[in-house]
Amino acid sequence: MRRMVTEHRPHPADLILPVFVRDGISEPVPVSSMPGVVQHTRETLKKAASEAVRAGVGGIMIYGVPEEADKDAVGTAGTDPEGILQVALRDVRAEVGDDIVIMSDLCLDETTDHGHCGVLDAQGRIDNDATLERYAEMARVQVEAGAHVLGPSGMMDGQIGYVRRALDKAGHQDVALFAYTAKYASAFYGPFREAVGSSLKGDRNTYQQNPANNAREALRELSLDAAEGADMVMVKPGLPYLDILRDFAERAEVPVGVYQISGEYAMVEAAAQNGWIDRDRAIMETLTSFKRAGANLILTYWATEAAGKL
Ligand code: PBG
Repeated sequence: MRRMVTEHRPHPADLILPVFVRDGISEPVPVSSMPGVVQHTRETLKKAASEAVRAGVGGIMIYGVPEEADKDAVGTAGTDPEGILQVALRDVRAEVGDDIVIMSDLCLDETTDHGHCGVLDAQGRIDNDATLERYAEMARVQVEAGAHVLGPSGMMDGQIGYVRRALDKAGHQDVALFAYTAKYASAFYGPFREAVGSSLKGDRNTYQQNPANNAREALRELSLDAAEGADMVMVKPGLPYLDILRDFAERAEVPVGVYQISGEYAMVEAAAQNGWIDRDRAIMETLTSFKRAGANLILTYWATEAAGKL
């Protein structure tokens, strides 16, 4: 009876698996703050993509980790067709084709030597509009490498419209944009910064949202992204922002996603390793809470495992 009257359940096709692929390694490198997550080699990434397909996972979001020596002030590795993310996109597209939605991270933080999501001006501040030009070029290169969907995660103003126009002009009208619409300056990104070997000093408070502010600010971002042509919108992180997710689910006219980020993953894994919580139940409870709050799509590092169980 309880099963019959259950109102919300995640489905494997709702899930999106974020993955890291690192240049210049011959074996996968474990991410110590995310037990079970690795920086993939090009070979092991292909295997991870195939496993996700077999488990019925809806999408895969790929992050490239360049070699330290290839980082520079403008993130050249992100627009070089031979950069790690671009070669990995070609690998994955060749391996799994259209059996899973292939998404790529459209941001400069993995490839810049200062670790910021944009390029900097002479005073060391983020130059929003110069960054948009870099994103537009990255977008073209990623699509040409095989991405179906781009995830602009840098929180620059106007990024969705700018990238949309650049793609349309280049003949890529059928590529979708998954907007990181409400992305908060969160303490929970910590483990991700290890996973991408981030060079960041300082913080992203000038471009990410203030966790202490009302939904009004997030809803303004939602209107802007909708007007600029977002095909899907996202709230990030997940659990601390279920109220924002609910607001989006009630108002957005496109699918709404949520990103269960690295720190959320690490909390559950660490508590489980200590025997303090029931890991499997905790994972399903968090995923179910996103569905209950109204998410259509869930980015989670547990995607393949959870899809297998579902
Ligand atoms: C930045 C980016 C971040 C994440 C995805 N893209 C981190 C940040 O803004 O510092 C975080 C994902 C996670 O923590 O799992 N391009």
